[in-house]
Amino acid sequence: QELRLNLEQIEKGGYEHFMLKEIFEQPKSILDTMRGRLLVNEGIIKMAGIWDHLERINKAERIVIIACGTSWHAGLIGEYLIEEFARIPVEVEYASEFRYRNPIIGPKDVVIAISQSGETADTMAAIKLAKEKGAFVYGICNVVDSSIARVTDAGSYTHAGPEIGVASTKAFTAQLTILSLIALKLGKHNGNLGNAEFMSLIAELDAIPTKVEEVLQSSHEVAKNIAKQYVDATNFLYLGRGYNFPSALEGALKLKEISYIHAEGYPAAEMKHGPIALIDENMPIVIIAPKQGHYDKIVSNVQEIKARKGQVIAVVNKGDVQVASMADHVIEMPETSECFSPIVAAIPLQLLSYYIAVYRGANVDQPRNLAKSVTVE
Ligand code: G6P
Repeated sequence: QELRLNLEQIEKGGYEHFMLKEIFEQPKSILDTMRGRLLVNEGIIKMAGIWDHLERINKAERIVIIACGTSWHAGLIGEYLIEEFARIPVEVEYASEFRYRNPIIGPKDVVIAISQSGETADTMAAIKLAKEKGAFVYGICNVVDSSIARVTDAGSYTHAGPEIGVASTKAFTAQLTILSLIALKLGKHNGNLGNAEFMSLIAELDAIPTKVEEVLQSSHEVAKNIAKQYVDATNFLYLGRGYNFPSALEGALKLKEISYIHAEGYPAAEMKHGPIALIDENMPIVIIAPKQGHYDKIVSNVQEIKARKGQVIAVVNKGDVQVASMADHVIEMPETSECFSPIVAAIPLQLLSYYIAVYRGANVDQPRNLAKSVTVE
């Protein structure tokens, strides 16, 4: 028993939990996922799985992304990426819904299945169904030689390394890295993404591990201090727009998974269609607001929240004044292209949930009722 405990200590590499260790591994896991694929100096993205089936994928009438949980959130961001850069219509579906609703799917469709474990039963069943109907299935898995990796027609591994914490962290940002690479590569080859834009985007993507390192350093203590003040919260709202709407969903999921606080993610503009009714001085609201896209719209969302005395925790770019001046708490992150901002924004959201859960005394690595890999229905 004692030996086992010591071994676990060693595996945690000095961190109190696997989750914290995995959060801090992200500069490396993202870099490992890009290694050999993103060749900035040569101006190319090398991905054998995509290259070998480029025609098939770029001629797809539609791409359907299938996943569960956090991987489904990565899929939502994948939709924004692929539609923006490759201009191929994308739908994102929960595997559990897809498999049971007699979906319209056929040989002209390409399915992208995303799964950290590569063993999720619903995702597996959805893939089998899609294959039976003639679709081409591309896998994005973390576990090498997993069931899903074996059953798909082609794929790319995320090289995040083993993820032990039940709540997914580094696998998520690795999935976003792969989806970014795929979207840029498809767009470059199908002519929707011009060379100059492609070059500047890959340079920006190449800088992501450094920016993730930066935000880890700059937001760690900040997130920890904020967390301390919200241990007794019973609800949380997470709001974001565009690329960061799925970030809001993922932020909320992280919090409920490990701290058992009820949390909901919403597209910021949908606030007026419901969640605004919940806002009072007891409602903490996390706003993901990098200074891009529809920043001015987020500014007015924050005004609406403050008018109702909600507590605003704003995740903004370094040096932000507008949102920051209205917020109760500010977490800064480095600037990047809007399309990669969910990777950077994920970090402070993970840290915030982690510390709230720790202060509540929750079992962070093994939350109640949850499993790392859900191999049953
Ligand atoms: C479980 C895990 C989640 C994960 C989901 C999908 O619910 O607790 O962290 O996102 O399954 O898992 P997959 O391995 O398919 O990505």
